[in-house]
Amino acid sequence: MLHPDLYPHIFTRKSIRKYTGTPLSAAQIDAVRGALGGLVPLFAEERYKLVCEPENGGVLHRVYAYGEDTAGGNANIGFLLQQLDLALHGQGLGRLWFGMGKAPKDIACEPPLSYAICLKVGNAAGPLARAGAAEFDRKPIEEVVADAGLQHAFEAVRLAPSAANSQPWRFVRAGEFIHAYRKRLGLVKAALFGRMNQVDMGIALCHAVLGLAHEGVAVKGISADAPSPAPAPDGYVYTAAIQI
Ligand SMILES: Cc1cc2nc3c(=O)[nH]c(=O)nc-3n(C[C@H](O)[C@H](O)[C@H](O)COP(=O)(O)O)c2cc1C
Repeated sequence: MLHPDLYPHIFTRKSIRKYTGTPLSAAQIDAVRGALGGLVPLFAEERYKLVCEPENGGVLHRVYAYGEDTAGGNANIGFLLQQLDLALHGQGLGRLWFGMGKAPKDIACEPPLSYAICLKVGNAAGPLARAGAAEFDRKPIEEVVADAGLQHAFEAVRLAPSAANSQPWRFVRAGEFIHAYRKRLGLVKAALFGRMNQVDMGIALCHAVLGLAHEGVAVKGISADAPSPAPAPDGYVYTAAIQI
């Protein structure tokens, strides 16, 4: 479903916040635009728009993402842009998920789509890659998935990026389904991070698909709003089911 070449980048990628003063070259911009064309949506029915433009007044480019502001629409954006994050990391480019940015005024967007988030892209000033998993600040794997048989594949999910490093995901296996749950936010955090919290779930699902495929487990499909098999873990909201 996703290109297996993306998988190894999960273990070395990091957010890049310092960039050189050198703008992307024409070839680098072509590479970003080319990578956009190869992204696979999480849900075929979700409408979305991705636009790569130079950052206003800066040397970076941004890939602006638009989708419907629903759990499925936002997860779809996370799934798409995380493929781009991994692909561009593999091409030696610095990237930063940037949830605090505003919608650009010069890009047209018709409802029901609205601006969700962007990925900044540029030439990194400093090392682009981590040496290994020990350099990631993340929760233990038991808090991601309790099923020991899935923990090796889900190391890829454990290392996924999330807004404010909140890591809001939790996965529960039930037969041929792996159910994905998202941590419920309080009112204040929901106002600030609600949309990003749902984007995070798409990022986790992207890494889950890559991790499972690497272990030889084919994903037959991912469905949103499937009925939850059992009460959600305390403090979590049901999001999607991965069928294996
Ligand atoms: C949806 C999302 C939104 C984010 N927004 C911002 C942001 O506005 N500013 C920022 O500096 N980092 C932002 N980040 C980066 C996270 O802080 C970072 O992914 C997390 O701390 C884990 O670090 P790592 O990406 O280096 O592994 C965002 C990440 C995600 C996934």
